[in-house]
Amino acid sequence: MDRADHVSILYDGEKHEVPSGRTILSALEEIGIGFVRGVGCRGGVCGACTVLYRISDETEFHAALMCQEPVQAEMEILPLPYFPQKKVRHSLDLPEGETPHYRVVNYYPEINRCIMCGECSRLCPVGIDVMGYVGMIKRGELREAAWESFTCVQCQACALRCPGQIPQPNAALTARLFHGRHQVPQAEHLTRALEKNRKEDIHAVIGRLRRMKPVEIQALYQRREIEPQNAPPGTWLPEDRTLIMMG
Ligand code: SF4
Ligand code: SF4
Ligand code: FES
Repeated sequence: MDRADHVSILYDGEKHEVPSGRTILSALEEIGIGFVRGVGCRGGVCGACTVLYRISDETEFHAALMCQEPVQAEMEILPLPYFPQKKVRHSLDLPEGETPHYRVVNYYPEINRCIMCGECSRLCPVGIDVMGYVGMIKRGELREAAWESFTCVQCQACALRCPGQIPQPNAALTARLFHGRHQVPQAEHLTRALEKNRKEDIHAVIGRLRRMKPVEIQALYQRREIEPQNAPPGTWLPEDRTLIMMG
């Protein structure tokens, strides 16, 4: 690749010529910058590779995931591996007479400081309406807040510039937990499966798997039932759900 296929960027204060047509992550790795920390899934779901960047002669800066964002000429990039924000250690129990909404707001009263500036939604690298879910939590719409924030990768970029110093992703995580625990109907099949595992001692099953030879595990894997290619969503269940238990 000749130099014409390269762009000039500033990464963590140092100038580099990197190949174009790549994500920021691939471009940096191709010139020999290795990552031990600050990169995880490489697929846009873990949030570990969050960076802030600005194009050198523009005013506005952005947040992005290095593994998803194409590299551009004149990017000035700052890694953001961690941003400290409030995180409450809490129980999911609901004291007598309290609602899930009350609990969440009680743990994160900062959400009432939102002035609706929209900076959090602008920065979110996965396009979540952060300001929207903050409002939903305030109004007690935990179900809506849970769905709106469902794809949050906990990159913390939204909290970075919040004038109310609101820990939005952690408040949303708590809202999802309380919604799941207290507002979603219990999955009876899951409760039954857990009960069955408890009775049949899952550790004994794992022990049995550990003692098997690789070829026996492969055979067990080959015998598993596989969902047909074009089964309409939610219609297929394996007939034998005890294959592993029976070993
Ligand atoms: S950045 Fe903070 S104050 Fe502004 S809209 Fe988001 S949560 Fe509200
Ligand atoms: S909501 Fe906040 S923490 Fe979650 S992905 Fe968006 S910017 Fe990152
Ligand atoms: S490495 Fe996980 S989101 Fe980029």
